[in-house]
Order: sequence, then structure tokens, then C-alpha cells
Amino acid sequence: MVMFDLKQIRREFPILKEGTYLDSAATAQKPKIVIDALKNFYETENANVHRGMHTLSEKATAAFEGARTSVQKFINAKSSEEIVFTSGTTESINLVAKTWGKENVGEDDAIVLTLLEHHSNITPWIQLKDENDCAIEWVELDKDENINLTQLSEHLIKGNVKLVAVTGQSNVTGVRTPLKGIIKKAHEAGALVLVDAAQLIAHHPIDVQDLDCDFLALSGHKLYGPTGVGVLYGKRELLESMPPFLTGGGMIAEVKRDHFTCAGLPTKFEAGTPPIAQAVGLRIAIDWLSQFNWSDIEAHEQSLIEKAFQELNKIEGLTILGPSDPKNISGCISFSVDGIHPHDLTDIVGQKGVFMRAGHHCAQPLHEHYGIPASTRLSVGIYNNEDDIAKVAPAIEEAKKIFS
Ligand SMILES: Cc1ncc(COP(=O)(O)O)c(C=O)c1O
Repeated sequence: MVMFDLKQIRREFPILKEGTYLDSAATAQKPKIVIDALKNFYETENANVHRGMHTLSEKATAAFEGARTSVQKFINAKSSEEIVFTSGTTESINLVAKTWGKENVGEDDAIVLTLLEHHSNITPWIQLKDENDCAIEWVELDKDENINLTQLSEHLIKGNVKLVAVTGQSNVTGVRTPLKGIIKKAHEAGALVLVDAAQLIAHHPIDVQDLDCDFLALSGHKLYGPTGVGVLYGKRELLESMPPFLTGGGMIAEVKRDHFTCAGLPTKFEAGTPPIAQAVGLRIAIDWLSQFNWSDIEAHEQSLIEKAFQELNKIEGLTILGPSDPKNISGCISFSVDGIHPHDLTDIVGQKGVFMRAGHHCAQPLHEHYGIPASTRLSVGIYNNEDDIAKVAPAIEEAKKIFS
């Protein structure tokens, strides 16, 4: 049962009149208040941050640093200095792999990845393997389609695992991993944990102190905020120990002809002009989302997923990837239909105004596991309603007729 005013929420997203948007796992739509915040920033506050000596620069700096504090509170980090603005989850993970990883993971060490990972949480670690000669150990799925915790323990017990890099929620099957248990196990074995929260962040509250994760990556655009801004959270002592990622303006304390020293946290990791307007927009998105209770958001989205699951399951020849119980699915459902390529299916359904996504969803190892190259993905956001879901099955049935 919806505990908030869904009609009002939908009115706040002008773009929803363009079609039935079921692609929020790729990027969430933005409420008007976020769109207006960007316009307002450029019209009344825009200047570069930190270095200016005039009122506009002071305003822009205050807005940008205010955004950092909003993110800090949203994920309950101890300090805003543990919040690094990046361009998104992808850059955040690359930052960790290419700084902490490069310095701390050697040829006798291993990184643990799970089959649920997005390419953004795979390829930086493969690069590290190639450069530092470390091993990559994979955790497969268990019978419930979640990650196999026994296998995780088997990897950890070897004593050479430096980091477990794990998603909080699969962007293909919608499975949520048991983060707290994974982090506890990893720490007991002396390994750190990086959480890819790109999907989880818009669907479930995150408390980094409670989780005790060492790093966490997220993207603003999946959280009803602008594209081009993301966050790397890292525990202070780790961030302090890491070398800079990119170097240049903004991130230095001093530059001489043959050496330079770095600024403190978090500036050390923010070389160049940061995504100022985008961070300000992200702050407004966080404020907007924070007016709702997480329990209401989750109950609403879960009821949509369960309805979608039931409707899709009735379609002959359609196979849902992942759990057979929709209670174990959050945010998105991926599926394939016998005899129709997911691209053709998603294209035809899209022509009928139902917007989903086709492809491997940047999760090729997982699709390989299922023995298919691609799938169609339906994903929901706070603004979706039952009418949106009700349009999917008839559109798929019509597409099937075209191919029969
Ligand atoms: C689980 C997961 N990780 C990482 C990413 C990459 O996010 P971005 O493209 O915003 O860097 C995505 C994007 O779809 C994702 O779903």
C-alpha cells in the first residue's frame, strides 16, 4: 500500500509524460526541484569554488561544501572529509583500484569479486591484476541466487585476500547481498571491503558506520540527482594513506619545479574543477528524497516488483533471471523471451511507449553464467505506479505476435 502521495510525486517529474519509464536502474529521472536547482545555481551562484575572493565564489563554495555535508549525513559518514566527489561510481572504484590497490595489493595477494558485479567493479580490478600480478578470486551464486557465502569464506580463509569488492544490489537480478555479514567476515580475515552502492543507494538506507565498510561508491544520477557527479566514501585513515589519483589544480598544497605536496582530505582526490552544479543538484535530490520514509519507499517499490514478477511469469516462454521468489528481488527484474532477441523485444515494446533496457547491463560474467548474451530489464523508481507495470505484459505479448 502506498503511504505517500504518488500522484503528487509523479507531478514533480515532468518527463514522465514522455512515456512509461521503467529504466531507473540505468538512470533515475529528476524531480523538477533538482532541475530548477541547476538553473538557479547557474543563474545566481555560479563561480569556481575554493579559490575565489568574491561573493559568487563564496556562494558557490558554500553550496558545494553544503552538498558534501548532505551526502555525509545521508550515508552517515563520520566526517565530510571522508566524502570525495567524483564523476560517478565508475570513477570512484577506479580511484580506489589505482591508488590504494596499486600500493597495497601485491603478487601474493587476492581481490575477491562476486558474479553479481557490474563491469565498473570488475575491470579496474582486472587492470590491477595485470599490473600488480595479484589474483582475482570469484564468488559464484548459491541456490537462492545470492552470493555463495561458503565460497567467500573459503577464499578468505587463505589469508591473502586484501579486498572484497561487492555490490549492495545487483543491477540485473535485483538481489541484495548481505553486506553486514560479508563485511564482518572480511574484516575477521584481515580484508577490506568496497561496496558498490550504485543501485542500492536509491532503494535502501545506507549507514556506512553501521555497515563498517571501508569504501563505498555511488552515483548521483541513480539517486534522482544530476549526471556527472558521484561519491567515493572512504574511512579517513585509508584515504589519508592513499596517494592522489588525478593530479593538477586544486588538489595540491604546494608545487615546486620538481615536486609537489598534496592538500588534505578530501581535496587531495578532487583535482581540477569539480562537478559543482551537479553536486548542488545532488544535495537537492537528497533533500527531496529524504522527505519520504525509507519504509514507505521500499514497500511501494517492492509491491511494484512483485506485481511485475507475477505478470511476467504468466507470459509463455519468458524466463526471469535470478530468484524465484520476488521477495528476494529489489529494484529491477531481468528476463529473456524464447525466440526473440532482447534488443528486438525491448525496441518494439519501447515503440509502444514502455521504456526498458536491453543488453548485458554491463554484467557479462553474470549473463555468461545464465548462458545468454543479453536480457531485457525492467526497473522501478519511486515515481512508478501500478499502471506502468500493467502496460508491460500486454506490450510483450504484442511483440511476441510480431515474431511468431
Ligand atoms: C551496480 C552498478 N555499479 C556501477 C555502475 C556504474 O555507474 P556509473 O555509470 O554511474 O559510474 C552501475 C550503473 O549502472 C551499476 O548499476
